[in-house]
Formats: sequence, C-alpha cells, structure tokens
Amino acid sequence: MTRIKTVFFCQTCGYQSAKWLGRCPACNEWNSLVEETLQSSQSGKGISIGKESGSIPISINKIETEQEERIKTEILEFDRVLGGGIVQGSLVLIGGDPGIGKSTLLLQVFDKLSKNNLKVLYVSGEESVTQTKIRGDRLGASSSSLYILAENYLEKIFEEIKKLKPQCLAIDSIQTVYTSMLESAPGSVGQLRECSARLMSLAKKNGLPTFLIGHVTKEGAIAGPKVLEHLVDTVLYFEGDSGHDYRILRAVKNRFGSTNEIGVFEMGESGLTEVINPSELFLAERSIGVAGSVVVPSMKGTRPILVEVQALVSPTSFGIPRRTTLGVDHNRVSLLAAVLEKKAGLSLINQDIFLNVAGGVKIDEPALDLGIASTIASSLLNKPIDPKTIVFGEVGLAGEVRGISRWEMRVNEAAKLGFKSCLIPNHSNNLSKFNPLIRIKGVESLKEAIEYLF
Ligand code: TYD
Ligand code: MG
Repeated sequence: MTRIKTVFFCQTCGYQSAKWLGRCPACNEWNSLVEETLQSSQSGKGISIGKESGSIPISINKIETEQEERIKTEILEFDRVLGGGIVQGSLVLIGGDPGIGKSTLLLQVFDKLSKNNLKVLYVSGEESVTQTKIRGDRLGASSSSLYILAENYLEKIFEEIKKLKPQCLAIDSIQTVYTSMLESAPGSVGQLRECSARLMSLAKKNGLPTFLIGHVTKEGAIAGPKVLEHLVDTVLYFEGDSGHDYRILRAVKNRFGSTNEIGVFEMGESGLTEVINPSELFLAERSIGVAGSVVVPSMKGTRPILVEVQALVSPTSFGIPRRTTLGVDHNRVSLLAAVLEKKAGLSLINQDIFLNVAGGVKIDEPALDLGIASTIASSLLNKPIDPKTIVFGEVGLAGEVRGISRWEMRVNEAAKLGFKSCLIPNHSNNLSKFNPLIRIKGVESLKEAIEYLF
C-alpha cells in the first residue's frame, strides 16, 4: 500500500514543516501553513530537466554557440526590458497588482507577434474566450494566428500545445493552473511549483518562449514560493499608480539582459502605448519657479531619465521632526539633512521634511543626493532653483560632492530637452567645453553647490 505523505507548506514563502504551526518560522506570516500531499516520485520530476534529456558533460571549448536569435516584438519598450527581444526557450514571469494591465500588455505583445506571422497561444485561466475577445477588440487584435484558450488544467493545455505547436506561449495566470498529479488547490505552493517546473521543462526542450503572469501578494512580491522566481529566466514587474495613466515595466531578474532597464507605457482607451521619451512625460506637469523643486537625471539601464524631485520643509509642530519620503530611501534623506545641517550651515533641527519624486518613480541612485539636498535647501530658504538647471552628484558625509558614472549621457539628455545649465561633480578641467548647448558648473562640496544655486 502506498503511504500518502503530507507536509505543511507556507503559502507565502514555501517553507515546509512536518506539523502545523500558527506562524511560519521563515517569513513570520501568521496562519499561512496549509497541508498538501507530497508525491515524492513526481514533485521532483519537472525540475530534473538535465537528466531527462540525457545530458553529458562537455568541455566548454567544444560547445558550439549558435547565434542567439531573439524574437523582436517591435514594442521597443518591451524588447528593451527583455534585453533586446524574446530569447528562444526562455521562461518569463510577469508580476503586478490586479488591474494594472498585465493581461493587456501580454495580449498586445502576442498580437504584435502574430502579426509578424508567428503562431502564438494565449492561455487564459481567468477570463473566458469571449472576454478575451472583447479585450482584443479594444486593442485591435485581429490576426488569425493568435489563438486563445480558456483552460486551467495543465494536462489539457499541454495536449493543445502538442496539437497547435505554437511558437510563443502565454499563461494568464500561473496561479489558476493546476495539474491532476497533485491534490492541492490551484495557486497552492505545490501546484505552483509543479506547474511552473513542467512549463519550464516544456519551454527548454522545445525552445518555446513562455510568459507566465503571476499575482502579487499585498506586500508586492509575486505570490507563491520564492522558488518560482529562482526557476524562471526573467522576472518582470509591471507597476504604476492608480492615480496615473502610465505604467512601468521593470526587470528584477534577467538571465539575458540588464535588470536596470525600464519600459514606460501609457494606458489609454485602446490599450497600452509606448512612451518613447519618458523624461518629457515625467516633467510635463512640473510647476516652474516654485521653491522645493529640482530636476535630476537618473540612469535607468542604458538611458537617462529626467525626474522632478520635490521637497517641502515646514516647522515641526511637536515632538521629533519627521522625514517622510516617497520614491527615495528614507535613510538617505535623513543622512543628507544631517550633512546639510553640519556642512552647509542650514538649520533643519526643528523642521519636518517631506520628499517626493514626482510621477511615482522610484529611484535608488546616489546620483540623486545633490538634487535631494538642493531641493531641501530650496524649500527651507524659500528660494526657487532655476527651472532650466539640472543637478546631480553623490554627497559624502564630509559634505564633499563625488563623481557619478555616465555623467556625459545625463548632461546630453538634459541639453536635448532644452535645459540650459547643470550643476555636477567637478570631474575634469574642461567641463565647460563638453557641450556647447549647456552651461556646466562643476562643484566639489555641498556648500559650494548651495552657494552657487541660491
Ligand atoms: P488588465 O490587463 O486586465 O489587468 P491585470 O491583468 O493586470 O489584472 O487591465 C485592466 C485595466 O486596464 C482595467 O482597469 C481597464 C484598463 N484598460 C484600459 O484602460 N484600456 C484598455 O484598452 C484596456 C484593455 C484596459
Ligand atoms: Mg489579468
């Protein structure tokens, strides 16, 4: 008689326990452990791809490299985030909040692919064929080689793939798919792991590029075990503010490209459109000539994006002064406030500081330091910074301004968008000759920068 073994899995992080616990010892989530049956013969099967395909060790200089050919979707922002197109046999996971536009994005990508004469299959486990068709109509998807399948049962999906032989596959979403090999419900850790491992194996063996849509938890991570993110080649997050129409596609893991790259889209009446020049979009609603606002160029992958950093400094009404930030690291702002206080002689001890990167962009680059410090100073002194000036540079604890990588690109981007001057770290003696369209001022300390600006 076969003994059925059950294990308790944490539905948040995938932690395994032999007995039930009220709180997961790995991720500290309460009441997240659920009993699932463990089929030892099968649960490992999908992962041992190497064994199944009978691989043998090969000396590295004997491996023949074929020219890696990528499928271009012709949606430039999407291709860029993937590292220059879709890699054959890759498994890509796209996560994001409900309603952000994951299904819309993928359907548009698949529509583009099918219009380039690729046979593609979009499996929807969440919406019926008619619902997907209605969405498709809005997006103008009409190609005969775009196939829609409303199905959750993995074995059935595999059967249809065998018949149809698509060249690209989308599963919307991985949490709704289940296999009969396991008894647990769709979306449980066991199902997620098994289904994605088998989809991975399918993708690798057949060179079939596969996209999985994943739900996110309330903390913003992709629901299910971390193994899901380890397993796939690329993890993309689709983000945006409910108050804004634009969406940002960001890679957090990419085996075939940089993770720093972002793609910017705008959601409209007929789906998502690419935003080719994001700086213009982020600066569109800028209020000119007010104190506490400055433009900073931030590198996002291979291109600089100009964003507005806003600060509001107001007297503390009681207790400890607050430092509230949106889009930048809270600790960084506290640190810069301390440097401003000590090295530039500004008194912030009784002041609350609110800092915001306009447009909901998140930035974690030291290049932003000088911008943050100048906008805080601007708000405190109630003196606006010249709206045609950009500011960037890293600020050290001694109040020194340090050099920043790829400053040339940042300066050129600002010049292209009509900025007239920039305040940057003092890299070299001939800064003034660098670009005739823009006046460059190199500074060595925060104090010098503040004196120059105000
Ligand atoms: P959807 O792709 O269903 O989100 P997800 O799959 O991430 O849950 O996006 C749904 C939202 O997008 C919904 O609020 C309506 C909006 N939308 C548009 O504004 N324009 C469009 O053309 C489409 C298709 C959707
Ligand atoms: Mg959806």
